[in-house]
Amino acid sequence: MKNIIIFASGNGSNAEQIISHLNQTKTAKVDAILTNKANAGVLERAKRHQIPSHIFSKTDLESGKVLEIVNQYKPDLIVLAGFLLKFPEHIINVYPNQVINIHPALLPNYGGKGMYGMHVHDAVLANKESYTGITIHYVNENYDEGAIIKQEKVFVGDCTTADEIATRIHQLEYEHFPTTINKLLSE
Ligand code: GAR
Repeated sequence: MKNIIIFASGNGSNAEQIISHLNQTKTAKVDAILTNKANAGVLERAKRHQIPSHIFSKTDLESGKVLEIVNQYKPDLIVLAGFLLKFPEHIINVYPNQVINIHPALLPNYGGKGMYGMHVHDAVLANKESYTGITIHYVNENYDEGAIIKQEKVFVGDCTTADEIATRIHQLEYEHFPTTINKLLSE
């Protein structure tokens, strides 16, 4: 069976959807959760599913300490699910085309440094967009610029708050991120 590891910085609802989906399909196992936030909700979710977790600092990420942790697991795929630090090039070089991310907008729109989580939805609302969506893509050395694997659109023209947009985006993420990961691992 294949194995993946997940990087997440926050609540971890996407991480949990992935864990549950792979528990059913049995294509792969989530071997570890890695986070840069000691109080991230994803840690509680990891515990509940009895998945080992690792907390690291930005310095650990940049110095190579995190690469050592990653190497312990020899992952087939590294999944960024709400991971908000820049993913270092030295890890991508060891795992080429094996690091994927989900972005809560239709890249290249609303991407780049500072464009994450609610900031994206605030901007979509402020610009009165009728549609937004999600992008699942490979990670390269630039923020949000790797090759696109999948995009899905959703109508948000009737949303009056960024929270409403976030809810629609999360639904879309839950529907498509786990299945896309499963498909990548089955190829
Ligand atoms: C998700 O909407 C994800 O697309 C976004 O953070 C949220 C995490 O939610 N990621 C980014 O903005 C990355 N640039 P979750 O912790 O509940 O899965």
